[in-house]
Amino acid sequence: RHPGWPAKLGPLRVPAGILAVRPVRLRDAGDWSRVRLRDREHLEMWEPTGVGPWPDRNAYWSWPSQWLALRGLARRGQCLPFTITVDGRFAGQITVGNVIRASLRSAWIGYWVSSDIVRGGVATGAVALVTDHVFDFGGLHRLEATVRPENTPSLRVLAKAGYRQEGLFERYLDVAGGWRDHFCYAVTKEETGDGLVSRLVAKGLAERV
Ligand code: ACO
Repeated sequence: RHPGWPAKLGPLRVPAGILAVRPVRLRDAGDWSRVRLRDREHLEMWEPTGVGPWPDRNAYWSWPSQWLALRGLARRGQCLPFTITVDGRFAGQITVGNVIRASLRSAWIGYWVSSDIVRGGVATGAVALVTDHVFDFGGLHRLEATVRPENTPSLRVLAKAGYRQEGLFERYLDVAGGWRDHFCYAVTKEETGDGLVSRLVAKGLAERV
């Protein structure tokens, strides 16, 4: 067992519905593949360049190996791989990865949300839930999110959730076939006060249920 894993987070009411976050499951295969095959246009330009064609990488049969790899990393305390649900249905993923402990106690956070449910506060709520969780129960002190400057919705998510922009990483990540600049956003535990979820609730952007 590693700190903060496994865990179920929420529920939280956001404009899109009842938001919750739970560990990825083998039986997410069908929903994961259906949504990602449909949402290629919505996702591909923001995600790390993959090996092989999109339909193969996101086929039903490619989930079990990804799930196994994520579960292995989670069991070693290197990753917290969550599925996002809205009203009990699969709605995307949020992952804390590259967990470094000792004196750094830091990791990155990344997420995507199904195109049929965007603009309903889902990503913002999920980022707040997961950030509070890793600071309160996962033993981490800092989370970093890197976003392409062109990704307006994701920049908005991080600003709403309470992350700060720290700088620009040039030619940082191999995304959609090229080395793309990324803004670095971050938050440390000291800045979160009573928690990012409490702040969203105070601003009327989410409600605990
Ligand atoms: N132009 C301007 N603002 C926009 C646009 C747009 N085209 N589209 C959405 N927005 C705004 C919304 O209005 C909303 O802001 P508001 O509440 O102030 O109105 C905000 O962006 C989105 O907030 P949420 O509703 O909380 O987020 P959502 O659930 O829609 O998910 C996400 C956002 C995750 C970026 C989704 O669009 C997605 O999955 N995109 C593709 C994958 C992706 O980019 N993932 C993030 C990569 S970066 C990273 O992981 C750190």
